[in-house]
Amino acid sequence: MKIAVFASGNGSNFQALVDYFKKNQLSATIDWLFCDQPEAYVLQRAKKTGTAFTSFSPKEFASKSEYEQAILEELDNRGIDLIVLAGYMRIVGEDLLAVYENKMINIHPSLLPDFPGLHGIRDAFEAGVDETGVTVHYIDRGVDTGPIIRQEKVTIEKEDTLATLEEKIHQIEHRIFPEVIANLVNMGDVK
Ligand code: GRF
Repeated sequence: MKIAVFASGNGSNFQALVDYFKKNQLSATIDWLFCDQPEAYVLQRAKKTGTAFTSFSPKEFASKSEYEQAILEELDNRGIDLIVLAGYMRIVGEDLLAVYENKMINIHPSLLPDFPGLHGIRDAFEAGVDETGVTVHYIDRGVDTGPIIRQEKVTIEKEDTLATLEEKIHQIEHRIFPEVIANLVNMGDVK
């Protein structure tokens, strides 16, 4: 199975995935990184880890559809079976969904359906809830609404700041995201 990772920023989840795939024998490979932000740090990580990568911005295209068709051409050329969204800060459009529905997985830093959207950690922290967490789910047409594959909770302690909470959430992400993907690969369970 061939996997593509989509990311927009720092890429710590991309790094965790690549590290896990290097350490563990899996019947899948991370074959390509796509990044929609040509200056993003994740591209340095791709270079360092020897992962093939491409970066272009939707601004370079007349429409979202044309942008996604350009991505689809790359996916097709590379024979990608599964797309892993790891901090890809865009709503997936109809073109990608038409080909990869049920073959796209996302990680979100809250216990969905609570706190969807761009600022899951901050929104939970500011809401003053006792616990939040991490959700791995399939992508559908909504924003962070697709079928949930795995969730893990984290307690927000009185002494937590936004920074310490972010750190806790990222630690969970880096542990469970590779595990979930390894399970899907092993079970042949990409819908
Ligand atoms: C993660 O918190 C992820 O849950 C969210 O975006 C963040 C990406 O972080 N979707 P990184 O780029 O992987 O470091």
